[in-house]
Formats: sequence, structure tokens, C-alpha cells
Amino acid sequence: MPPMDMEIRTYLLYILAAVSLPSLASLLYGQRHSLKSTIPPFVGTTNIISSCLTAFKLQFSGTKMLHKAYAQHGNGVFRLPSFFRWTYLISEPKLVSEMASAPEHIVSFNGGLEDVLQTDWTIGQDVTENPYHTPAIRVGLRNINQYFPQLHDELVHAFDDTLALQNHEWKLITVVPTIMQIISRSTSRVFLGLPLCRNQEYLDLTNNHNMRIFFRLTDSPYLPKLPETDYRSADHDSQECQIERDVGHEWPDRPNDLISWLLDFAEEEERTAEALVRRILTLNLAAHNTWMSLTAALYDLTRYPEYVLPLREEAEWVVADQGWTRTSISNMVKIDSFLRESQRLSASGPIGMARQIVAKDGFTFSDGTTVPYGSFLSVPGHNVNTDPVVYENPEVFDGFRFSRMREGCSGSREGKEGSIFTRHMVTTSPNHVVYGHGRHACPGRFFAATQLKTALAHVLINYDVKAETNGIRPQDHEFSLFKVPNTLGRIYVRKRV
Ligand code: HEM
Repeated sequence: MPPMDMEIRTYLLYILAAVSLPSLASLLYGQRHSLKSTIPPFVGTTNIISSCLTAFKLQFSGTKMLHKAYAQHGNGVFRLPSFFRWTYLISEPKLVSEMASAPEHIVSFNGGLEDVLQTDWTIGQDVTENPYHTPAIRVGLRNINQYFPQLHDELVHAFDDTLALQNHEWKLITVVPTIMQIISRSTSRVFLGLPLCRNQEYLDLTNNHNMRIFFRLTDSPYLPKLPETDYRSADHDSQECQIERDVGHEWPDRPNDLISWLLDFAEEEERTAEALVRRILTLNLAAHNTWMSLTAALYDLTRYPEYVLPLREEAEWVVADQGWTRTSISNMVKIDSFLRESQRLSASGPIGMARQIVAKDGFTFSDGTTVPYGSFLSVPGHNVNTDPVVYENPEVFDGFRFSRMREGCSGSREGKEGSIFTRHMVTTSPNHVVYGHGRHACPGRFFAATQLKTALAHVLINYDVKAETNGIRPQDHEFSLFKVPNTLGRIYVRKRV
């Protein structure tokens, strides 16, 4: 097991606490938002006591109850009780798109995020009020060709070092800490380069910081101490910032990394080491989802071993023909489909895409439904991803579901239904909200998809994997309305000869 300083059981406790604390906070300080509304409630009552009781029951059997509600009200908007307030769930695809494309001053992404993660407290108001890191990452991560060689190189070394396999022996590994280490190392290689991406103290600090945020332990004045010897931003103020003040953004040997991407967008008060560290930690938090997706994909691959051969053949064929490049990874259509299917079923929790209505007049959907000022909106993620109207056998894992769809497409580049681009891993829709949808759809998804596909292709070509127990997939942890891959799940892995 990699030397992460956080025991996996502690991590599990963190998750438990992370899902129960917001409910408690909501109970104590919750928005006493009107319980009266014309929108159908989740259960047939709107009185405060039974709503609180339902909110309590949701903590224990949220997924099941939500499933029932979606079957009943899945074609519009319905209300889910939290303690002393409602969450409005938007399920009809057209309305999901309307909510997702509404401007921030009407339907607020930041308001939703603050409700879910108490971001003003955990990340800091300066970050939430001025999220300039989002356009910075959108632009910085755009040219995948440029940093692909480093990403691939780090994945290869990280798998090798972390798995530490001997000869041809099977080794039983706990997937979460292993994959967390590999993903954070390869992400850090692109974000901040060598040698920091291999500095275990730095990796542990960022991963533990993420856990603290989920646990609501971090307050704004708090910042973990990063290893100063390696941390380029520590002397950023005196060196790079001075250079940029003198000559602007264009100077010889300017590093193409996260700090430079941030500096392209940062206002004067953001151009300090501490402020930059805060942004780096925030983006590490956002990138945290990637290890969950790779963990889920490995659970699926070992649960359904019939996919190993065709996926391996594709990876070997493409690499033999085109080598390891960003373009060759894009040509791995079956691997793309397998990962998209794995994410469809595992990556969206019961609810997601949290938003808050901040327009004083509320927000009116095209079907006439009005949600009032101050209220909280979400999309029932797992339900829309498994809507039987859109997906055949929606709960069945069908790894080539999307590659089959792409085979039948016209190949036009127009991005309409029927074009080859509608079923890529990175394509969002109101019925595939793994990366959200609309205005705030994840800007890191092109990078994450490339990272995930490269990692899976590398595993298929270089390792054999099998389930700890044949036919059993470690069950996702589900608490309340949250879901994460099983943190204790194990699989066997060995080097291929
Ligand atoms: C498999 C990996 C990932 C998944 C499943 C994922 C998922 C998401 C989701 C669901 C959202 C919210 C979208 C919405 O509410 O409409 C989001 C937003 C975001 N993600 Fe990702 N993400 C992943 C990887 C990454 C990576 C690698 C980065 C890079 C730093 C990143 C950066 C962001 C940022 C900055 C936002 C906020 C966007 C905004 O404010 O408009 N994500 N992501």
C-alpha cells in the first residue's frame, strides 16, 4: 500500500461525517425556506413534521426513495425534503438544459456548491467569489498534445512504483489508495511537473486537504504547509511575479504549468504565493473525481472479465499502429465506451449539479413551473443517467453500448444527434450528467478522459487483473444521497509476461 498517511477506515469515517454534517447544519441553521409550493412534493405531504421525518429516512434509504419518486415525477420538477427546506429536483431533459444554461446571477452554481460543501468556510470566500481558476484551467488544459508525453510517462512510472510487483506473481491490492496515488501523481505532473509530483509529502497534503474539505475541517485562514524547498510558488512572489511585472506573460522558459495558467488570469491581489496555493488546492479538489472513476472502472473490468480481451486487443492494436499519443488515445473507441458506461452507472450520485436561485423573482421554466428565490435545485443524477426512455436495459452494465451507437452514426462533425461526437466520454447531455451539463460542465473533463483512457489502456497492455472473488464487484458506499466507490475493495493484479 502506498505511504498515504490516512488510514482507509478513517477515510470512510470522513465520508460518513461529510454526508451527515450538512444535514445537521441544515437542521440547525437551515434556510427556513417556505414549505408551501405548487410543485409536487416527494411524498404526499408538506407539513413540517412529516417532511423532517422523510428527510431523516432519506439519510438511510435515499437512493431507493429517490428511485420511487423519479418513477412518479420523473417528467418535470419535484421536491425533496431536507430538514426545514426543500431541494427542487429537475428531471425532465429540457428543463435540465434550461437550468444548466441559466446565467449565474439567476441560477447560481456557486450558491449550490456552497450549500453542498460549505465552500465559503472550507475553501475561502476569496476563491468562491472570484473563481478565475476555472477559465485558467479551461485554457491551460486545452492543448493536451503538448503535455500528453508527461502525463503518459508519469502514469507508467506511478503504476510501476505504486504496484511494486515482483515477477509474475498475483498481488492483492486495495484499489482506492493505489489509484488515488497514481492519479494524483500523474495529475500533479501536468499541474506542477517534476520533482514535486513525486514528492510524497506534497501528494499526501493535497489528498488529505481534499478529505478535510469533505469533512468541513478546513477554514479559510488554514492552509497546509507545503514542502517549501520544492514548491515553486513559494518564491513566486519575488521571482516570476517580478518578471511578469516587468515583461508581461511572454518570457523565455516560462513554464507551461498550472502556476503560469493561473498567472494569466490572476488579478494583482491574487498574485501571492498563499493565494496561488489556495487555487492549486481547489483545483486538486476538483480533479479528485478522477480516481473515483478509475477505481469504478477497475471494479467493472474485474466484475465483467469478458471485456478484458476486446479492450486489450484495441489498446495493443492502436499503440502498435500509432504509438502513445493523444490522437491514438482518441482512437480507442471501445475503451472510451467502457469508461463512459462505467461512469454512467457509478460516477453520478443520487443527486448532483447543485444550484441556488439567486434572482429575486425566482426562476420560471418553459413549462411554467416557478422555483422561488433562495431555493436549491439539483438533478437526480443516477436516475437521469439510467432513464429507461433513453437507455435500453438501463441498469445493466453494457461496456460497448456507446461504441455500438457510434458505429451506427453518420460521422458528421456537426455535433447533432447522430454525429460521431454525441457519444464520446466527454459529451454531456441532460441524460448523461457525469460531468454536469451546460454553462458549468466540467472544464477538466477532456484532460480527465485522456488520463483515464491512457491509464486503462496501460493496465490492459501491461497487467492482468482479476476480481478478489469471481463475479463480485465491491459495492459502492451509499449514504444519504451520496455515493462513492467502495474504499476497501480489492482486486488481484500481476505483470503480464
Ligand atoms: C472523472 C473526473 C471528473 C468528473 C467526473 C468531474 C465532474 C464534475 C462535475 C459533475 C462538475 C459540476 C458540473 C455542474 O454542476 O454542471 C465539475 C465541475 C468542475 N470540474 Fe470536474 N470532474 C472531473 C475531473 C476534473 C478535473 C481533472 C479538473 C481539473 C482541475 C476538474 C475541474 C472542474 C472545475 C474547475 C469545475 C467547476 C466548473 C465551473 O465552475 O464552471 N474536474 N466536474
